Amino acid sequence: MSYYTVLGLAKEPFSTSPDPTFFFRSSSHVQALTRLEIAIRLRRGLSLILGDVGTGKTTLARTLLANFPREDGFTFHMILDPSFESEYQFLLHLSRLLGLPGGFKSALDARETIEHHLFQRGVTDSHTTVLMIDEGQKLSGDMLENLRVLLNYETNEFKLLQVVIFAQMELLGRIRRIRNFIDRVAMKYIINPLSEQETAQMIEFRLRSAGLPSGTTLFSPDAVEAVHRFTQGYPRRIALVCHNALEALVAHERSLVDGPLIQELLHDESRWLDEVAA
Ligand SMILES: Nc1ncnc2c1ncn2[C@@H]1O[C@H](COP(=O)(O)OP(=O)(O)O)[C@@H](O)[C@H]1O
Ligand SMILES: [Mg+2]
Repeated sequence: MSYYTVLGLAKEPFSTSPDPTFFFRSSSHVQALTRLEIAIRLRRGLSLILGDVGTGKTTLARTLLANFPREDGFTFHMILDPSFESEYQFLLHLSRLLGLPGGFKSALDARETIEHHLFQRGVTDSHTTVLMIDEGQKLSGDMLENLRVLLNYETNEFKLLQVVIFAQMELLGRIRRIRNFIDRVAMKYIINPLSEQETAQMIEFRLRSAGLPSGTTLFSPDAVEAVHRFTQGYPRRIALVCHNALEALVAHERSLVDGPLIQELLHDESRWLDEVAA
C-alpha cells in the first residue's frame, strides 16, 4: 500500500511529473497561458517563456497542449529537447513532425519543402501550425539561426509558423547576442515563483485534486509558511518538500504536518543541500 492511500488519497498528490491535472493556476502561470493563447491566435510568430528550473515551464507547455480549445484549425507539435546534431537533423525532425515525406537532397531542399507546406497549411487551409520547444536553453546558435529563417516565412498579415520556446533564463543572453533576434520575439514572459498565499493554494489544490475530502487538512498554516520560506515559492521544490512531509507523516503515524514536523524535515533537507553544495 502506498503512502497516499494510507492518508485517504486516491492519487499521489505531489508527484513531480508535469501533469496538467495537477496544474495550479497561479497568477503568473495564468498570465503566461493567456498571453500565449493570444499570440498563437494572432499568429504573431515567436513567443518566449522564460523561468528558472522548477518554475513550471514544462507543466505549462503540457497544459497549453491539453487545454487549447480544440476547435479546428490548430496543430501543435512539441520538441522536448532541441539538442540536434546538425541543422539537417533538425529540419528532418521538423519535417517528420509536420507529416512530410523525407528524402531531401539538402538542408535547403528540406527548408523549401517545409516552407511550401507551411504556406499551404497557413494560407490555403487557414490552419495554424504551432511548434513548441522545451528546454530551449539547449538551442545552439545554429539552431536559433534556423528558427530565425523559419520565422521569416510570412504573409503580409501573419507568420506561417508559430514558435513557442520554453527556456531557462540563460537563453536570454544567447539571444541578445544574435543580431535582430530579440526584435523577432513577439511575446516574452518570465514565470515568477509563487507568493506565500499561492504556495498555500497550490498545496491545497494538489491535495484536493488527489482526492482529499473537503473539510480535512494535512498541513497546518505554520507548516505551509515554513514550506514557502524554504522553497521560495518554486513549484518543483514545493512538490518535493510536501511529498517528503507526507511520507514522514505516514512513517510517524501522525495525521497533520505541523510546524515541528516540517522544521525537522527542512533541517534535514538543508543539511542535504549543504552537503551537495560542498
Ligand atoms: N502551476 C503548477 N501547479 C502545480 N504544480 C506545478 C505547477 N508548476 C509546476 N509544478 C510542479 O513543479 C514541477 C516542476 O515543474 P516543471 O514544469 O517540470 O518545471 P520546469 O520545466 O520549469 O523546470 C512539476 O512536475 C509539477 O509537479
Ligand atoms: Mg522543464
